[in-house]
Amino acid sequence: MKTLVLTAHPNLDTSRINRAWFDALSEADNVTTRDLTAIGGPTLQFDVEAEQTLLLAHDRIVLQFPFYWYSAPPILKAWLDQVLSFGFAYGPGGDKLKGREFLILVSTGGPADSYHAGGYNNFSMDELLKPFQQTANLTGMTYLRPFIAHGMAQADETQIEASVPDMLSHVSNPELNPQVRLARLLKEIEDDPAKAAAVS
Ligand SMILES: Cc1cc2nc3c(=O)[nH]c(=O)nc-3n(C[C@H](O)[C@H](O)[C@H](O)COP(=O)(O)O)c2cc1C
Repeated sequence: MKTLVLTAHPNLDTSRINRAWFDALSEADNVTTRDLTAIGGPTLQFDVEAEQTLLLAHDRIVLQFPFYWYSAPPILKAWLDQVLSFGFAYGPGGDKLKGREFLILVSTGGPADSYHAGGYNNFSMDELLKPFQQTANLTGMTYLRPFIAHGMAQADETQIEASVPDMLSHVSNPELNPQVRLARLLKEIEDDPAKAAAVS
């Protein structure tokens, strides 16, 4: 599996958690990392053909960003608006991303318990990330369970370091794809029908 990571942080030099993730991912096997802020430059302009060619060369597309005002930094919006174009990602002939996987890696300042009904952020991350989920749906990609690190505005070095192996194993886990997981479970049942009761 070849993974493309699109990192959208306005300044990786001042970032702590996204910098740590970007550096670790840049060392990982079969992973291509891209610092969108460096590539898009001050005018937030992308070479659409080059970006689309890269997408076609990868199976799992990962968007990595800090959560800003319940969304992503503007460089990611610029990339999405330019690269997921009509006839490529949607519309007639726009099936080029169909069958790929789509994964979000996000850090938040707010703690986990704030992202619930009744918490001070009121909504869950699954709810707040819906525009990304629907972008995956419309473009025919399989939306994978996101990786979320909460409380990262004040995180200490130990918390940041601890998140890195968890993040790496999430990104490389083939069973994030529900179809892959289900196929494995069905195979296990086929091999040993007694297991059926344990699988739901
Ligand atoms: C402009 C801006 C908006 C932010 N909006 C949110 C937000 O909506 N929810 C939240 O939990 N944290 C928010 N934060 C905190 C960041 O998510 C947090 O500082 C970041 O994830 C830390 O990542 P870094 O170390 O890579 O910069 C915001 C921070 C900034 C600068």
